[in-house]
Amino acid sequence: MKNKKIFILTSLLLTSCNTNKLDVSIYAYNLEDTFIASLVSSIELEMKEKNYKYTIFDSKNSQIEQNRQLINDIENDNSSVFVLNMVDRLAASSIISKVKKTNKPIIFFNREPLLSDLNLYEQCYYVGTNPYLEGTLQAEMTASLFGDPQNLNKEYDKNGDNKIQLVLLKGEIAHQDSELRSNAYLETLKEKGYEVEVLTSRYCSWKKEKGYEEMKNVYQEFSSQIEMISSNNDDMALGAIEFLKTQNVFNNNYLPIIGVDGTTNGKKAIEEGFLYGTVINDNVQQAKMISYFVNCFVNNKKIDISLSSNHCIYIDGKILTKKSL
Ligand code: GAL
Ligand code: CA
Repeated sequence: MKNKKIFILTSLLLTSCNTNKLDVSIYAYNLEDTFIASLVSSIELEMKEKNYKYTIFDSKNSQIEQNRQLINDIENDNSSVFVLNMVDRLAASSIISKVKKTNKPIIFFNREPLLSDLNLYEQCYYVGTNPYLEGTLQAEMTASLFGDPQNLNKEYDKNGDNKIQLVLLKGEIAHQDSELRSNAYLETLKEKGYEVEVLTSRYCSWKKEKGYEEMKNVYQEFSSQIEMISSNNDDMALGAIEFLKTQNVFNNNYLPIIGVDGTTNGKKAIEEGFLYGTVINDNVQQAKMISYFVNCFVNNKKIDISLSSNHCIYIDGKILTKKSL
């Protein structure tokens, strides 16, 4: 009899969990970021489709603000799942310890915590893009322009030294998507046999305005020496393009510029011929994967996909140029 009572009680608890009375809490590091805004709206679409209650928090690029929002959320027991885009991905351990006490799952996205931190708690997951592949695909686009590494296409190797004079526009220091994209880009070009001279690399925090400003400085220093610009995302590339237009760079010859993300404005710039190409950062698939995890937790289902290091899943992107538009 006693056993039966316990059984009924547990079933009741499970049922209340299934009906998802609590919200799915979605935390964005900064909704002014173009890609994050599109990813969060894809997540919203998923939540609406599945009829989940959800709340979106924007920490406006402040980890202190995000901590405050999270602690408040935990203390009021408002959430069933935490979907978390950290401001400072290296500061995950204290958040993980706090959530662990609630025994609720965390799905990190886009800003990847260290594996040593993810390992602190079994119910921690990460959904992101595949930055290594993105860098590799950027190198492929570059190779398709410059051609034979022993005898570079003269249209792009403007000074004819058989080396690619390159400018790198990087996202944020210590962001996995910045470092891995740029490293994979340079490594792959080297593997393919290209000689590359990095004239300079500049961090522009993923922002169009910063891309504009930095390009202005870079152009003052290197002007016509630049043969190729590779940017960690489309927004920074668009900023650079905007500045280069003021210098009439595109009037007489072509300067190839590539990005990552495949934003609406990025695609428009490809169509207009200013951006040579981009690599799609697939926000729809990433949102679907986040929704898959949410669905498993809310309905007490087993996660039956294979995860890298028991916690992570990386969604592949693909090349987009005028030809494939
Ligand atoms: C990257 C994306 C950038 C920026 C960043 C934010 O994956 O390519 O545009 O949104 O995430 O963490
Ligand atoms: Ca050259």
